[in-house]
Amino acid sequence: MITNKDIIILGIESSCDDTSAAITKNGAILVNITANQTIHESYGGVVPELASRAHQKNILPVVHEALKQANISKTDISAIAFTRGPGLLGSLLVGTSFAKGLALSLNRPIIEVNHMIGHILAHFIKKPNEEPNQPKFPFLCLTVSGGHTQIVKVKDHLDMEIIGETIDDAAGEAFDKSAKIMGLPYPGGPLIDKYAKLGDPSKYTFTFPSVQGFNYSFSGLKTQFLYFIQREVKANPNFISENLNDICASWQSHLIKFLLSKFKKAALKHGISELAIAGGVSANSELRNELEALGKKQGWNVYVPAFEYCTDNAGMIAMTGHFKYLNEEFSELNIVPTARLPI
Ligand code: KG4
Ligand code: ZN
Repeated sequence: MITNKDIIILGIESSCDDTSAAITKNGAILVNITANQTIHESYGGVVPELASRAHQKNILPVVHEALKQANISKTDISAIAFTRGPGLLGSLLVGTSFAKGLALSLNRPIIEVNHMIGHILAHFIKKPNEEPNQPKFPFLCLTVSGGHTQIVKVKDHLDMEIIGETIDDAAGEAFDKSAKIMGLPYPGGPLIDKYAKLGDPSKYTFTFPSVQGFNYSFSGLKTQFLYFIQREVKANPNFISENLNDICASWQSHLIKFLLSKFKKAALKHGISELAIAGGVSANSELRNELEALGKKQGWNVYVPAFEYCTDNAGMIAMTGHFKYLNEEFSELNIVPTARLPI
């Protein structure tokens, strides 16, 4: 039963290649439906024009399915939260326009959500009647996705500050581009993770870039990996197929060491012992395991999101929308999406 005291948020996510709709009721998730786009696999990356067309096709069925599964009628919705950015402009336009159109027809407010804040607030998604173990403020969040790598000091749900970030490529890009170099399809991150489980992480060694402060850099690492593969394939044309598991294990272990070494330094420097990870790469099993190990060793509390809420999803957008609704942070109907949007 829905009463007019209930806060029902419909969240819409369309920033990259996943079309997703989710519904929260009084801050608890009822449903999270995502349509993935497989069309990009053979292109080695997301093709923006194909992504926005696929969003147009998927958005209505995804929203319908979310309402149906949650047993919510459109008129029960209190507000519509949507991803305004950062992301691919054509993709963002689909979600933003849909949110505006629906809000106009229902006479409900819209709430813009920053995708990166959404990833972090995925840690606050809970099921009805669940009392989950959530990070306490202030906490540090390492947000690692296909487009971003940031260390964020989270002071409150809607009060955060970036204390370090990549100066070039993102961690997810490093995974995906190395996978592409090995001839693996997009997105390669989950595949590297899969093969790495069967390989020897100490078989091949790589060097770390030197980057100031709590910042990261992945572009030199990517080149290092490319030259390594080119050199080895020259000596043995079957090098990749004969050693795939060991290459993935060694390379993944290197990337995870790099990510966590800076994160640990940031936690020590800021005196923060609540540590979380978020974004697509936080689904990586080694990153999750190594963060747990670091937490145990240092006596820190560490938090990893449920798998469903690591990669792009509307649950995190609805959740952020809920917090903004409580703050009465609504957007005007003439708001436009934007490819770049700082936290
Ligand atoms: O957050 P996300 O879904 O989209 C962006 O906002 O970019 O992140 C997608 C990224 C891709 O680069 C993908 O390869 C990576 O997350 N990813 C992984 C794993 N699962 C997804 N990387 C490493 N290991 C994984 N298990
Ligand atoms: Zn994302």
